Amino acid sequence: MKKGKPSETAMRVATGIVASRLDALLRPLFKDPDEPYLEWFVNEHGEGARRYLQAWKSNSQAPIMQFFREQMAKGSALFTLLRKLFIEEEARAALAQGARQLVVLGAGYDPLTLRLQKEFPQARFYEVDHPATQEVKRRALIGHDALPSSLTLLPVDFEVETAEAALRAAPGFDPDAPGCFVCEGTLMYLTPEDAQALFASVRRLGGPGSRFLFTWLDQSVLDTDPKAKNIAAMLSYAGEPLRSSHDPADIGGYLKKQGFKLLTLGDHQALKQRFLDPHGITRPVSALEYAVLAERRK
Ligand SMILES: C[S@@+](CC[C@H](N)C(=O)[O-])C[C@H]1O[C@@H](n2cnc3c(N)ncnc32)[C@H](O)[C@@H]1O
Repeated sequence: MKKGKPSETAMRVATGIVASRLDALLRPLFKDPDEPYLEWFVNEHGEGARRYLQAWKSNSQAPIMQFFREQMAKGSALFTLLRKLFIEEEARAALAQGARQLVVLGAGYDPLTLRLQKEFPQARFYEVDHPATQEVKRRALIGHDALPSSLTLLPVDFEVETAEAALRAAPGFDPDAPGCFVCEGTLMYLTPEDAQALFASVRRLGGPGSRFLFTWLDQSVLDTDPKAKNIAAMLSYAGEPLRSSHDPADIGGYLKKQGFKLLTLGDHQALKQRFLDPHGITRPVSALEYAVLAERRK
């Protein structure tokens, strides 16, 4: 990330979701397509972000931007939407099945905790994110008088300190309780060492039966697909280069070594089948990233 600046990719992910909500074909995939949070956060991010959002909301500019985005990074915005649907469905299921705390690592401008805290008033919610990004979210939530009492925001730069220390010191956090941990669109920005340390922390921070939902990068796609290379180049330019990845075919073995069991591999095909096929949506989905549901081994 650029020093002292909030994450550009978090802003772009949030804007991309707003754009998808306005896309007539994708709109039925959203439970509440008029939810305000994403626009609050993007507007708080800065003047450039406000203009970028307005362009995506404009009937004349959005189709042109969509055309260029698909030329550069075919199907990547759609994968981002699918990973969010997967994570929300699985996090909701984990809370319904007894998880008492939901922790989102590298939460960005995602509103998952804000949504689920309404459905699970007994649960505790934690977001851990880079201080510069999280400050934008905090300001927007306070400005709209919408920071829930069950949500704790913990500012942590993973390159400097660990999420673990912050969580252990956080009010109400219980490392022995069953929890659900989410690390979406973030592992790939960490070095392989920091990514592995994050798995170890999550292992220590959740009681038996805890779930871990994360997304990671398939290096073989990055190496062979020119469109994926475009995405990597754009991310580098935004100051957020891709740093780690793991072969999805071996993710079960990797998880076993980290003390987790693979429950569901949500690659682009599986997510397409689960969320798009029932709506008859046949648009291309990028294979660069994949999502995973894992369970902490005893
Ligand atoms: C692509 S955004 C993903 C945001 C969100 N999880 C989502 O999918 O909508 C990447 C996130 O990683 C966070 N991040 C990147 N490097 C970080 C670091 N060194 N420490 C803490 N967070 C970091 C950014 O602040 C940002 O929120």
